[in-house]
Amino acid sequence: FPVSVVLPAGGTGERMGLQTPKQFCSFLGRPLISYTIQAFESVSWIQSIVVAVAKENMDLMMDITQRFKHRKVLVVPGGSTRHRSICNGVLALGEERSAAGKPKVVIIHDAVRPFVEEDFLCKIAMAAKEQGAAGAIRPLVSTVIATTSEGYLDHSLERAKYRASEMPQGFTYDVISQAYQRCSESDFEFGTECLHLALQYCGTNAKLIEGPPTLWKVSSPGACFGLGITLSRSAC
Ligand code: C5P
Repeated sequence: FPVSVVLPAGGTGERMGLQTPKQFCSFLGRPLISYTIQAFESVSWIQSIVVAVAKENMDLMMDITQRFKHRKVLVVPGGSTRHRSICNGVLALGEERSAAGKPKVVIIHDAVRPFVEEDFLCKIAMAAKEQGAAGAIRPLVSTVIATTSEGYLDHSLERAKYRASEMPQGFTYDVISQAYQRCSESDFEFGTECLHLALQYCGTNAKLIEGPPTLWKVSSPGACFGLGITLSRSAC
């Protein structure tokens, strides 16, 4: 069955304090996002990869696509929030109909999680096709606590009961496109969990699958150094 991918890569790097957004930072002479794209491009059953990037980075992304010979990539403008970027990508898949055909399943993955592997993508795609939605989870490595506005402990959560929601997530095209059509402005602004949008607006409860630690997201320079990865502060 046809599977396409949406990579939200519209972040501008403000939180990490980088001049270049982390997805475009160089790792061993190649931009991080190029590794993520490669992880999908090497999978024969994936038909297309839509990358949503901020308008100011579209030329850079086109250049990366050409330089690293990414053949399955379509670059679209990102949005002001992660959800808007994903939504733009999903809409583009609908419009792409004549070229590659509307996919049965859409996999959503962060551009900054370069180590995703085919066998796990296969689990997500199969579960999404059967259940309508599927998502990767990981056990929590830290206990989550709520704090008071004065900076004291309010309450703590029982760690064993909770999981971290990771990427990739998969949806049938119909579920993800309808969820975005029906959701509210505040869902777009506050970044409501995609799996939650599917449940709330389509009545589709996602199958949750525990993923490997390699689903790890590059979220801060510290996290990169922990794995021995040094991101250069400039695009390569
Ligand atoms: O900031 P965070 O690490 O949560 O971002 C996760 C992913 O969402 C990144 O790949 C980032 O580029 C993307 N994003 C986006 N559009 C935005 C903000 C973030 O596609 N407006």
